[in-house]
Amino acid sequence: MSRKKIIAGNWKMNMTPTEAVELVNTLKPLVANDEVDVVFCVPAIDIIPAMEAAKGSNINIGAENMYYEDKGAYTGEISPAMLKDAGVKYVVIGHSERREYFAETDETVNKKALKAFEYGITPIICCGESLTQREQGITIDWIRQQIKIAFLNIPAENAAKAVIAYEPIWAIGTGKVATTQQAQEVCQSIRSCIAEIYDEATAQAIRIQYGGSVSAGSAPELFAQPDIDGGLVGGASLKPEFGDIVNYKK
Ligand code: G3P
Repeated sequence: MSRKKIIAGNWKMNMTPTEAVELVNTLKPLVANDEVDVVFCVPAIDIIPAMEAAKGSNINIGAENMYYEDKGAYTGEISPAMLKDAGVKYVVIGHSERREYFAETDETVNKKALKAFEYGITPIICCGESLTQREQGITIDWIRQQIKIAFLNIPAENAAKAVIAYEPIWAIGTGKVATTQQAQEVCQSIRSCIAEIYDEATAQAIRIQYGGSVSAGSAPELFAQPDIDGGLVGGASLKPEFGDIVNYKK
């Protein structure tokens, strides 16, 4: 089965609404490539202006987070209904920065993923090991555990539509990209884990991204791996370089 690549930018806590519009306008012509799905996951306050600026282009605007309740007394949170109403199609869930600084757990990741599907929003579910875990040789076990909990109670037809982002924590923002072999090995094991939980068809349908210091230089080799279906890009998604990453084949 051939899976369409999905290349997403994660802006993190960068870009004011004014800057967001400027960045979308700058990148719009550079990322015009219908062969891949292009997503800009932006801060909540930038969603509406970025969406306006991206109108008529191939850019999908996504969110970086959402809460798992429908609505109510959760000061400061953003609900799935709000994202849906704004036209958001993708939401990043369980990024390691959310896990580290905002106490997100595999269980909250699962609740958010379930809720995203309920609202027809595709979750980009993040997983990844720390440097210590890699050095201890427990990377694969750790990732499998993250995936098993993240997908609890998610039916196969939804799982097949999900996106998983494998982001080794030690490679995020460090300039230290995982080797192609390391990235492929983990992405392959994630696919086998999905096959074990569901079936081979679901495993072949699900898209798995690599994230962690992806650059225009590293993207072509990474994205050519059989189990890597694109990337989740931080720093380089804020620059014209993102256009080269989206057009990694050219
Ligand atoms: O979600 C993307 C990310 O964590 C990777 O960031 O800056 O290393 O590309 P960066």
